[in-house]
Amino acid sequence: MKVCIVGASGKLGRYMLKHCLDRGYSVVGVCRPQSTEKLAHFGDGIELVPGRTSDRDVIRRAVAGCDGVLTVLVPWGVNGYSSGTAQAVLDYSEERARLVFSCGWHITRDGRDEYSSVFLAILKVGGWIARMLRFVDINDQVEACRRVFRSNKRWTVVRGSDIEEGESEGLPIWREHVGDPALKSNRTRRTDFGLFMVHALTNDALIRKAPAIVSCKSPSALADA
Ligand SMILES: NC(=O)c1ccc[n+]([C@@H]2O[C@H](COP(=O)([O-])OP(=O)(O)OC[C@H]3O[C@@H](n4cnc5c(N)ncnc54)[C@H](OP(=O)(O)O)[C@@H]3O)[C@@H](O)[C@H]2O)c1
Repeated sequence: MKVCIVGASGKLGRYMLKHCLDRGYSVVGVCRPQSTEKLAHFGDGIELVPGRTSDRDVIRRAVAGCDGVLTVLVPWGVNGYSSGTAQAVLDYSEERARLVFSCGWHITRDGRDEYSSVFLAILKVGGWIARMLRFVDINDQVEACRRVFRSNKRWTVVRGSDIEEGESEGLPIWREHVGDPALKSNRTRRTDFGLFMVHALTNDALIRKAPAIVSCKSPSALADA
């Protein structure tokens, strides 16, 4: 299987890269030119396409011939970085390709997610401050996912809980909606977020789904099991 990782040099990207290589996949990585050093230790194991992920020509070249595309959606700046990245992946990926996008629980597909008032308050205040500083525009990540949800391609949008570092605890569990008691612990190891993204490439049950994930070892997941 040939897989493109869009945002390969970030923390999540590097975990996904390792999981793909562990499976023997051939990998094309897209990352900013100034970040290629972060992938130097992978040597010839991956093909690199340096460039901004919202650059349509960069994405067109990177996803050509790929069976799967793993895209880290991050709402940097206020110039449509996330939505531009998603649109380019949707436009240029192969028809047959499995497309897997990352985001957080704040993204809702059908409005049936249930959030705590604390979560909503943090999102509102944090999002406003970040936008005022022209640092991050969460609304652009929302727009990016809206475009994915509208697409007829073979996509999955993986919605991550709060993230922590540490050894793998195994493949996270998932539910259709935030608010499900099984997700209550709201924590996933970053390596396992990557594991779920890579797992989604070969799990057709996740096509056109927006799974919200949590660690399989978290108290809420164990209680639910
Ligand atoms: N962090 C959390 O707590 C959390 C919680 C839930 C879900 N998520 C989701 O998890 C995914 C990964 O998030 P993460 O926080 O762990 O980040 P990450 O994996 O470190 O990824 C950040 C990405 O953004 C790029 N980047 C950094 N600064 C940039 C800039 N100024 N302009 C353009 N690109 C820039 C990085 O590339 P370089 O290598 O070039 O810097 C990297 O590819 C995201 O989809 C996020 O929504 C995160």
